Order: sequence, then structure tokens, then C-alpha cells
Amino acid sequence: MARHDPKLDPATGEATLERTLGALANCWGRENGHLSIDGQPLSARLPQTPAYLYSRRCLDAAVASLRSALPGSIGIHYAIKANPFPPLVRHLAALVDGFDCASLDEMRLAREVAGPEQKLSIAGPAKSRAEHRYAIEAGITINAESVGELERIMVAARSTGRRARVALRVNPPFALKGSGMHMGGGARPFGIDSEVIPSLLEQRETLAEGGIDLVGLHLFAGSQSLDAEAIAATLGAWTDLLREWQQTTGFTPAELIIGPGLGVAYHPGDRPLDLAILAPAFARLDEELAALGESGGRRIDTRLELGRFLVAGAGIYLTRVVDRKISRGTTYLVCDGGMHHHLALSGNLGAVLRRNWPLVAVDRLDDPMSETVDIAGPLCTPLDVLGKNQPLPPLAPGDWLGVLQSGAYGASASPSGFLSREPATEYLI
Ligand SMILES: Cc1ncc(COP(=O)(O)O)c(C=O)c1O
Repeated sequence: MARHDPKLDPATGEATLERTLGALANCWGRENGHLSIDGQPLSARLPQTPAYLYSRRCLDAAVASLRSALPGSIGIHYAIKANPFPPLVRHLAALVDGFDCASLDEMRLAREVAGPEQKLSIAGPAKSRAEHRYAIEAGITINAESVGELERIMVAARSTGRRARVALRVNPPFALKGSGMHMGGGARPFGIDSEVIPSLLEQRETLAEGGIDLVGLHLFAGSQSLDAEAIAATLGAWTDLLREWQQTTGFTPAELIIGPGLGVAYHPGDRPLDLAILAPAFARLDEELAALGESGGRRIDTRLELGRFLVAGAGIYLTRVVDRKISRGTTYLVCDGGMHHHLALSGNLGAVLRRNWPLVAVDRLDDPMSETVDIAGPLCTPLDVLGKNQPLPPLAPGDWLGVLQSGAYGASASPSGFLSREPATEYLI
């Protein structure tokens, strides 16, 4: 039997796990059947489970691969919400050009780690008065999500005696196709409907009198798309809208933040995003924005805003088998980690149907996967699932499991208070 059964991936006939492990070779080692760091088995190096382990080398590789597909004039903003672990954000500060924040604490963290050249922005509905005031005082661009928020920003600007840098977040007339999480194309709590944008752009002098410098636009249509053609089409649709608005209102943004929705291959059957298809689309975006900037008499400072693509592959969630039991013919591995640390793994973070993740026996990478098991966490709920019909070598209590592709929307996106269990420890190596 092969070390990892190629039938793992029924949709494509490819071995997703092998492919992911191959990519991991840049981040962690694989020696004598162990997932390893600097020649030592990872399970011997880490003091405990449950834990998240993030690799600096893998973060470097993810940013480098995106840079290689991007024209030099388009910057990269890391969306801290994907993983706010401070050492990881600090590491990324040296690699990216700015940060997207979603709260007061994220703004504080970004300011602490950002260099003087880095730009910061804050997005999200229901921003508090404290968040508006903090952003205004720190010169952070506020992505306004509604007309009501523009009014609240004016109040905050008056009370601080400072001008607010504001970008209008656009709720587009389209959704990013193939996107796991649609955030445009219909009625949404996020952003201002695109049909309302021209009238606001025409009122920019009135906004300026109220203390708002309308510096740009924030364009985000969805998340987790593996369809490079669809992402390219969305970038084209954005530039069409910008051209139309420039013609009708004379507005050319000084700052443009675009969420491209670059996705991550998490499940059997997922094909990794093809950056070779996206590179010409980014080049076209750059050319079209340069032309728009030229006719508007200013350079458009463009940034891609993204999270998971940069950090998901850099993280492994590690858990240990506590019990092995058979219930009416099904073999269960019951582990010390679960949905309170990794909600997405359990299928409860926006998935319509739960699918398996790339999961490895950390110290038995070379053993044949001779059995199929269900894997459960420690919580007293049937929702606490780590794997179903998951091919693995036979494992016993004490053995370690690693869930690959776990660097994004993990610890901070999970209900860690549920059942009052210990949080997962996080490490950056
Ligand atoms: C405004 C905004 N920017 C960026 C992101 C990051 O998306 P992703 O991690 O899929 O790149 C999100 C995710 O929901 C978002 O809402």
C-alpha cells in the first residue's frame, strides 16, 4: 500500500494530502516518518497539545509567491482577522505593506508592529465611537460601511479636532464566483450599495466640510475562491465600475484597497489557486488603474487586502489521541483538541457541508493508511468532529495528529470559552 493512498481525492484522482505534504517540505521537515523541525520530530520539540504551530518559513514563501504574481506597484495588506497571533503579525510586518484591522485591538497591534511606511485601515460594520476616534487620531483609513457611519465619523472628527481619512466600502452589484463566503451582489450589512456610491462621490466637498477626506474606495466581493478565472473577472468588473464613476463624478481614488478573495485548498478535491492565471490579470489591473490615474491626474495607490492565502498553509493544529474506541462497528479516535480551538475543522464556520481536512499522523507519515476512522474532540456535542471516514494508520492513545492548512481563522475564530476548556497554545517557529 502507498504511504498515502492516492484515492484520497475522489474528485480529481490526485492525492491532496501528498500535494500538501510536498508543499510542507518548505516549512517543516519530514524525516524517518516524522514531521520534524530542524531534524527533530515535532512531537518531541513541542511541550504540549493541543497547539497551533506556525512556520516563519512558510509565511515567507506565501508572501513571496504572491509577490511574484503581482506588479511591484501593487502592495499587499494583511487582514489581521485571519490570524491575530502577535508574533505572527509581527513577522508579517516585515513582509507586507500594511494591515487591515477589524477592531480597536487589531489597530493597536498593527500600530505596534507596523513600520513608518505601512498603511493601516479599519473595516467592519458597527464600529464604535472609540474605534472611530482612535482611527482618526492615528491617521488610519476608515472604510465606511454606510451613510450613517459617515455621519458618525463626522461627529468623531469634530470631537477630536482632526480630519478623518475615509474610503467608501462598496457593496458591488456582483459576487465573486466560486467564493465560499459571498459578501457582495445582493443585500448585505457590509459596504454601501454600489448604486448609492456616485451620489456620495459627488458630495465629497460637503463631506470635506464635515471633516472627512474621501481618500478612496474599498472593494471586497468575497472570500475563499479557488477559481482564478472568476477572480480575474471580478478584478475586471471593479475597474469597469471605477471607470464609470470617474466618467460620471470625476472621482479618482488616491487609495484603492481590493480584497481579491484568494482561496486555499483545504479539502480532498480542492485544486490550489493557479497564480499563473492570476498574474496576467494583476498586470491588466495595474495597467487599467495606471490609465485611470493618468486621466484623473493622480497616482492610484493600490493594495490587495487578504488574509488566509498568506497564513493558512503556515499553520498546523496539533492534537493527541486520548481514547480509541469502537462503537457499533465505527472506530473512533477521541482527541484532546476540537471545535473549541478549530471551529472550521468541525464544519461549523460557514461551510454548507462538512468535508475532511488534510490530517496526518505526525509520527507515522510513512505507515500505510490501513484503516478508516472517525475522529472526535473532547466536547459533549456531536458537532465536535475532527474527521469522518478519515484514512489513517492505526493510532493509539498518546499518538499525535496534525491538521494541515490550519493557519487562518483557527484559534481566534473558534469558541474557546465553550465548555471552559484550556485554550490551544500557539507557537511561531
Ligand atoms: C473586509 C475584509 N477584508 C479581508 C478579509 C480577508 O479575507 P481572506 O482571509 O479570505 O483573504 C475579509 C474576510 O472576511 C474581510 O471581510
